[in-house]
Amino acid sequence: LNLILLGPPGAGKGTQAERILADFPQIAYISTGNMLRAHVADGTELGKEAKSYMDSGGLVPDELVTKMALDRLAQDDTRDGVLLDGFPRKVTQAEALAGSGRKLSGVLLIDVDDEEIVRRVSGRRVSKSGRVYHVDFDPPKHEGRCDVDGSVLIQRDDDKPEVVRERLAVYHRDTAPLIAYYEDQGLLARVDGTRPPTEVHDHIRATIATWR
Ligand code: AP5
Ligand code: ZN
Repeated sequence: LNLILLGPPGAGKGTQAERILADFPQIAYISTGNMLRAHVADGTELGKEAKSYMDSGGLVPDELVTKMALDRLAQDDTRDGVLLDGFPRKVTQAEALAGSGRKLSGVLLIDVDDEEIVRRVSGRRVSKSGRVYHVDFDPPKHEGRCDVDGSVLIQRDDDKPEVVRERLAVYHRDTAPLIAYYEDQGLLARVDGTRPPTEVHDHIRATIATWR
Protein backbone atom coordinates (compact mmCIF):
# COMPACT_ATOMS: atom_id res chain seq x y z
CA LEU A 1 0.00 0.00 0.00
CA ASN A 2 1.64 3.25 -1.15
CA LEU A 3 -0.37 6.34 -0.23
CA ILE A 4 0.05 10.08 -0.58
CA LEU A 5 -1.67 12.56 1.73
CA LEU A 6 -2.29 15.82 -0.10
CA GLY A 7 -3.92 18.97 1.24
CA PRO A 8 -3.35 22.53 2.44
CA PRO A 9 -1.38 23.33 5.60
CA GLY A 10 -3.50 22.40 8.59
CA ALA A 11 -5.91 20.20 6.62
CA GLY A 12 -5.32 17.34 9.05
CA LYS A 13 -2.70 15.29 7.20
CA GLY A 14 -0.69 14.56 10.35
CA THR A 15 -3.85 13.88 12.36
CA GLN A 16 -5.14 11.37 9.81
CA ALA A 17 -1.70 9.85 9.26
CA GLU A 18 -1.68 8.66 12.85
CA ARG A 19 -5.04 6.91 12.33
CA ILE A 20 -4.07 5.39 8.98
CA LEU A 21 -0.89 3.99 10.53
CA ALA A 22 -2.93 2.42 13.32
CA ASP A 23 -4.95 0.63 10.59
CA PHE A 24 -1.83 -0.36 8.63
CA PRO A 25 1.03 -0.72 11.11
CA GLN A 26 3.29 -2.43 8.56
CA ILE A 27 3.70 0.64 6.35
CA ALA A 28 6.36 3.31 6.87
CA TYR A 29 5.43 6.93 7.61
CA ILE A 30 7.37 9.57 5.70
CA SER A 31 6.58 13.16 6.65
CA THR A 32 9.04 15.55 5.03
CA GLY A 33 7.82 18.32 7.37
CA ASN A 34 8.64 16.20 10.45
CA MET A 35 11.98 15.15 8.94
CA LEU A 36 12.92 18.77 8.20
CA ARG A 37 11.86 19.91 11.69
CA ALA A 38 14.06 17.15 13.17
CA HIS A 39 17.01 18.43 11.08
CA VAL A 40 16.37 21.97 12.32
CA ALA A 41 16.17 20.77 15.95
CA ASP A 42 19.40 18.75 15.54
CA GLY A 43 21.18 21.67 13.88
CA THR A 44 22.34 19.65 10.85
CA GLU A 45 23.60 21.38 7.68
CA LEU A 46 20.33 20.53 5.95
CA GLY A 47 18.38 21.92 8.90
CA LYS A 48 20.35 25.18 8.81
CA GLU A 49 19.64 25.58 5.10
CA ALA A 50 15.97 24.63 5.39
CA LYS A 51 15.05 26.75 8.41
CA SER A 52 14.71 30.16 6.74
CA TYR A 53 12.45 28.77 4.01
CA MET A 54 10.25 27.02 6.57
CA ASP A 55 10.02 30.04 8.89
CA SER A 56 8.88 32.29 6.05
CA GLY A 57 6.26 29.78 4.87
CA GLY A 58 8.00 28.97 1.58
CA LEU A 59 8.97 25.58 0.23
CA VAL A 60 12.43 24.19 0.89
CA PRO A 61 14.21 23.85 -2.50
CA ASP A 62 13.80 20.57 -4.38
CA GLU A 63 17.50 19.78 -4.36
CA LEU A 64 17.39 19.54 -0.56
CA VAL A 65 13.99 17.87 -0.09
CA THR A 66 13.78 15.41 -2.96
CA LYS A 67 17.01 13.60 -2.13
CA MET A 68 16.05 13.42 1.55
CA ALA A 69 12.64 11.94 0.67
CA LEU A 70 13.90 9.47 -1.94
CA ASP A 71 16.73 8.29 0.35
CA ARG A 72 14.15 7.65 3.04
CA LEU A 73 11.94 5.78 0.54
CA ALA A 74 14.87 3.53 -0.34
CA GLN A 75 15.21 2.26 3.25
CA ASP A 76 14.30 -1.29 4.20
CA ASP A 77 11.22 -0.58 6.32
CA THR A 78 9.32 0.79 3.29
CA ARG A 79 9.06 -2.65 1.67
CA ASP A 80 5.43 -3.23 2.73
CA GLY A 81 4.35 0.26 1.75
CA VAL A 82 4.55 3.93 2.66
CA LEU A 83 2.37 6.79 3.77
CA LEU A 84 3.78 10.01 2.30
CA ASP A 85 2.75 13.22 4.12
CA GLY A 86 3.98 16.52 2.63
CA PHE A 87 5.81 14.95 -0.29
CA PRO A 88 5.44 15.44 -3.20
CA ARG A 89 4.45 19.07 -2.90
CA LYS A 90 5.26 20.24 -6.42
CA VAL A 91 4.92 18.66 -9.84
CA THR A 92 8.73 18.46 -10.09
CA GLN A 93 8.77 16.39 -6.88
CA ALA A 94 5.96 14.15 -8.17
CA GLU A 95 8.00 13.50 -11.29
CA ALA A 96 11.04 12.60 -9.20
CA LEU A 97 8.87 10.22 -7.16
CA ALA A 98 7.52 8.62 -10.34
CA GLY A 99 11.13 8.19 -11.49
CA SER A 100 11.92 6.22 -8.33
CA GLY A 101 9.63 3.47 -9.65
CA ARG A 102 7.34 3.20 -6.63
CA LYS A 103 3.84 2.33 -7.78
CA LEU A 104 1.16 4.42 -6.03
CA SER A 105 -2.06 2.92 -4.70
CA GLY A 106 -3.79 6.29 -4.45
CA VAL A 107 -3.66 9.93 -3.42
CA LEU A 108 -5.94 11.25 -0.65
CA LEU A 109 -6.77 14.94 -1.00
CA ILE A 110 -7.98 16.32 2.32
CA ASP A 111 -10.06 19.33 1.32
CA VAL A 112 -10.47 22.26 3.74
CA ASP A 113 -11.24 25.91 2.93
CA ASP A 114 -8.82 28.72 3.79
CA GLU A 115 -10.80 30.28 6.68
CA GLU A 116 -11.04 26.97 8.52
CA ILE A 117 -7.30 26.44 7.96
CA VAL A 118 -6.42 29.68 9.75
CA ARG A 119 -8.63 28.66 12.71
CA ARG A 120 -7.06 25.24 12.95
CA VAL A 121 -3.46 26.24 12.61
CA SER A 122 -3.71 29.05 15.18
CA GLY A 123 -4.97 26.53 17.78
CA ARG A 124 -2.53 23.76 16.92
CA ARG A 125 -0.05 22.56 19.56
CA VAL A 126 2.56 19.86 19.03
CA SER A 127 4.56 17.58 21.31
CA LYS A 128 8.26 16.76 21.16
CA SER A 129 7.51 13.49 19.36
CA GLY A 130 5.35 15.30 16.79
CA ARG A 131 1.90 14.32 18.08
CA VAL A 132 -0.61 17.00 17.06
CA TYR A 133 -3.32 18.60 19.23
CA HIS A 134 -5.76 21.49 18.96
CA VAL A 135 -6.63 23.66 21.97
CA ASP A 136 -10.38 23.42 21.16
CA PHE A 137 -10.91 20.60 18.64
CA ASP A 138 -8.51 17.96 19.98
CA PRO A 139 -7.18 18.94 23.41
CA PRO A 140 -4.79 16.71 25.38
CA LYS A 141 -6.04 14.95 28.52
CA HIS A 142 -3.82 17.11 30.73
CA GLU A 143 -3.69 20.74 29.68
CA GLY A 144 -0.49 21.68 27.88
CA ARG A 145 1.05 18.17 28.04
CA CYS A 146 1.29 15.37 25.50
CA ASP A 147 -0.78 12.24 26.33
CA VAL A 148 1.91 10.00 24.86
CA ASP A 149 5.32 11.41 25.82
CA GLY A 150 4.31 13.89 28.56
CA SER A 151 6.31 16.72 26.96
CA VAL A 152 5.16 20.34 27.14
CA LEU A 153 3.12 21.22 24.06
CA ILE A 154 4.43 24.06 21.91
CA GLN A 155 3.33 26.12 18.93
CA ARG A 156 5.20 25.62 15.64
CA ASP A 157 7.32 28.58 14.47
CA ASP A 158 5.48 28.63 11.13
CA ASP A 159 2.00 28.78 12.71
CA LYS A 160 2.05 32.57 13.12
CA PRO A 161 -0.89 34.12 11.16
CA GLU A 162 1.26 35.97 8.59
CA VAL A 163 3.30 32.82 7.88
CA VAL A 164 0.14 30.72 7.57
CA ARG A 165 -1.17 33.11 4.89
CA GLU A 166 2.06 32.68 2.94
CA ARG A 167 1.91 28.86 3.30
CA LEU A 168 -1.64 28.93 1.92
CA ALA A 169 -0.56 31.08 -1.05
CA VAL A 170 2.31 28.67 -1.74
CA TYR A 171 -0.09 25.72 -1.50
CA HIS A 172 -2.48 27.22 -4.06
CA ARG A 173 0.35 28.18 -6.42
CA ASP A 174 2.77 25.23 -6.20
CA THR A 175 0.98 22.26 -4.63
CA ALA A 176 -2.61 22.49 -5.92
CA PRO A 177 -1.46 21.63 -9.50
CA LEU A 178 -0.80 18.13 -8.14
CA ILE A 179 -4.57 17.64 -7.86
CA ALA A 180 -5.01 17.66 -11.66
CA TYR A 181 -1.71 15.78 -12.09
CA TYR A 182 -2.97 12.81 -10.03
CA GLU A 183 -6.58 13.14 -11.21
CA ASP A 184 -5.33 12.61 -14.77
CA GLN A 185 -3.69 9.38 -13.61
CA GLY A 186 -6.92 8.19 -12.00
CA LEU A 187 -5.27 8.14 -8.58
CA LEU A 188 -7.02 10.97 -6.72
CA ALA A 189 -9.73 10.64 -4.07
CA ARG A 190 -11.21 13.74 -2.41
CA VAL A 191 -12.07 13.67 1.27
CA ASP A 192 -14.09 16.40 3.02
CA GLY A 193 -11.62 17.50 5.68
CA THR A 194 -14.04 19.84 7.43
CA ARG A 195 -15.80 16.88 9.11
CA PRO A 196 -14.71 15.78 12.62
CA PRO A 197 -11.47 13.71 12.63
CA THR A 198 -13.31 10.39 13.21
CA GLU A 199 -15.59 10.94 10.20
CA VAL A 200 -12.67 11.98 8.00
CA HIS A 201 -10.90 8.80 9.05
CA ASP A 202 -13.97 6.62 8.27
CA HIS A 203 -14.09 8.10 4.77
CA ILE A 204 -10.35 7.54 4.28
CA ARG A 205 -10.55 3.94 5.48
CA ALA A 206 -13.43 3.19 3.10
CA THR A 207 -11.49 4.77 0.22
CA ILE A 208 -8.31 2.80 0.94
CA ALA A 209 -10.36 -0.41 1.03
CA THR A 210 -11.19 0.15 -2.66
CA TRP A 211 -7.47 0.45 -3.51
CA ARG A 212 -6.22 -2.79 -1.96
P1 AP5 B 1 4.49 20.30 6.82
O1 AP5 B 1 4.89 19.89 8.16
O2 AP5 B 1 4.22 19.26 5.79
O3 AP5 B 1 3.29 21.30 6.97
P2 AP5 B 1 1.95 21.53 6.15
O4 AP5 B 1 1.76 20.84 4.85
O5 AP5 B 1 1.82 23.01 6.12
O6 AP5 B 1 0.88 20.81 6.98
P3 AP5 B 1 0.69 20.92 8.50
O7 AP5 B 1 1.59 20.01 9.22
O8 AP5 B 1 0.70 22.39 8.89
O9 AP5 B 1 -0.84 20.48 8.65
P4 AP5 B 1 -1.49 19.04 8.62
O10 AP5 B 1 -2.28 18.91 7.35
O11 AP5 B 1 -0.54 17.97 8.96
O12 AP5 B 1 -2.57 19.24 9.78
P5 AP5 B 1 -2.59 18.69 11.28
O13 AP5 B 1 -2.98 17.25 11.30
O14 AP5 B 1 -1.36 19.09 12.00
O15 AP5 B 1 5.61 21.26 6.20
C1 AP5 B 1 6.16 22.33 6.94
C2 AP5 B 1 7.17 23.09 6.08
O16 AP5 B 1 8.25 22.21 5.70
C3 AP5 B 1 6.64 23.61 4.74
O17 AP5 B 1 6.02 24.86 4.88
C4 AP5 B 1 7.93 23.66 3.90
O18 AP5 B 1 8.69 24.81 4.20
C5 AP5 B 1 8.69 22.44 4.38
N1 AP5 B 1 8.43 21.25 3.54
C6 AP5 B 1 7.87 20.06 3.95
N2 AP5 B 1 7.78 19.20 2.93
C7 AP5 B 1 8.29 19.82 1.84
C8 AP5 B 1 8.46 19.45 0.47
N3 AP5 B 1 8.07 18.26 0.01
N4 AP5 B 1 9.04 20.36 -0.36
C9 AP5 B 1 9.44 21.57 0.07
N5 AP5 B 1 9.29 21.98 1.35
C10 AP5 B 1 8.74 21.13 2.23
O19 AP5 B 1 -3.87 19.51 11.83
C11 AP5 B 1 -3.84 20.92 12.01
C12 AP5 B 1 -4.65 21.31 13.26
O20 AP5 B 1 -6.04 21.05 13.04
C13 AP5 B 1 -4.27 20.51 14.52
O21 AP5 B 1 -4.33 21.35 15.63
C14 AP5 B 1 -5.34 19.40 14.58
O22 AP5 B 1 -5.56 18.98 15.92
C15 AP5 B 1 -6.56 20.09 14.00
N6 AP5 B 1 -7.41 19.19 13.23
C16 AP5 B 1 -7.02 18.17 12.40
N7 AP5 B 1 -8.10 17.57 11.84
C17 AP5 B 1 -9.20 18.24 12.31
C18 AP5 B 1 -10.61 18.10 12.08
N8 AP5 B 1 -11.10 17.15 11.25
N9 AP5 B 1 -11.44 18.96 12.72
C19 AP5 B 1 -10.94 19.91 13.55
N10 AP5 B 1 -9.62 20.08 13.81
C20 AP5 B 1 -8.76 19.27 13.20
ZN1 ZN C 1 1.56 17.92 9.26
